[in-house]
Amino acid sequence: MEPKSVLITGTTSGIGRALLEHYAGKGVSIVSVNRRHDPELESRYPSVRFECVDVRDADEVQRLVEGLAKTAELPELLVLNAGINRLDNDESFDLDAYKSVIDTNLYGVLHFIGPLTRLPVGQIPRHVVAVSSLAHCVGNPYGLGYFTSKRALSACFEVWSKMYAGTDLIFQQILLGPVPTAIYTMEDRLPAWMVRIRDSFSGSLDGTVRAISRLVVTRRKKLFYPCKAVPLYWGMWLGQRLIFGLFQGRKTLEGKARRKSVPKRTGEGQVSVEHEPVGRRGATDGQG
Ligand SMILES: NC(=O)c1ccc[n+]([C@@H]2O[C@H](COP(=O)([O-])OP(=O)(O)OC[C@H]3O[C@@H](n4cnc5c(N)ncnc54)[C@H](OP(=O)(O)O)[C@@H]3O)[C@@H](O)[C@H]2O)c1
Repeated sequence: MEPKSVLITGTTSGIGRALLEHYAGKGVSIVSVNRRHDPELESRYPSVRFECVDVRDADEVQRLVEGLAKTAELPELLVLNAGINRLDNDESFDLDAYKSVIDTNLYGVLHFIGPLTRLPVGQIPRHVVAVSSLAHCVGNPYGLGYFTSKRALSACFEVWSKMYAGTDLIFQQILLGPVPTAIYTMEDRLPAWMVRIRDSFSGSLDGTVRAISRLVVTRRKKLFYPCKAVPLYWGMWLGQRLIFGLFQGRKTLEGKARRKSVPKRTGEGQVSVEHEPVGRRGATDGQG
């Protein structure tokens, strides 16, 4: 059965917006949580309750959840979808960019969980859905924040889904392969063959919405979408282990070798430079 009410984070574009359109079309009561006002979206859906909250702000999220609970308006389904992706680990590791991704993708979800788990037991089950990624098993080394945030998010939901099994809180996650939205990074930097492979294993926005709405009418812990992306990620996982240098970031995105020379002390005050064996040098690096 469709939920009667839903809270969705990040509805200004992509998957969040498609979910909002889907549930609005079914007359479901919606609370939309965005970090900024979007006048076009808000005027198009006058029946939606738009809350301007940045999910990185723990206090604001807590106030929102507690406020909705107090007036019995906290939806029975929460899709914690807001997320970003940044190149944070190319020429050098960029801590600020990394933190912004972790703050949004990981803490931006976790901020909801404390207040939710402190609520009194509800009469009806409440589904809490994380939008994770198949990239949590084979990370893009240049987007380290994205990889590690989704890995940690999936681990947290794995634990909570078992810990709260049989209670009124149902923790679920959807593990997405590529879906063409604004979140794609490195669009212009990937070699054409990689873009072709990614596109042929991508899901659609409609398909993603259908997958999420299928998941939330069950108590299943997780759902993969699209199924065809699963063997792709398994292949990449295996390839990273078996093929030297494959998609391991051994070259910068400009194609420059990364700190390949290692100075080695040979004797009194003398320093020689040890090079990598020529035949192995980044030959199969995916960004090469
Ligand atoms: N597309 C894919 O290939 C793919 C694959 C796996 C998982 N996912 C996951 O799917 C989710 C949705 O991504 P998408 O593909 O739909 O990307 P998107 O089109 O870029 O949408 C991201 C949404 O998150 C919002 N957002 C970002 N930071 C926020 C913050 N601090 N507070 C509140 N809202 C914030 C954005 O709002 P602004 O407009 O204000 O930036 C936007 O509405 C993400 O969690 C992503 O990791 C996507």
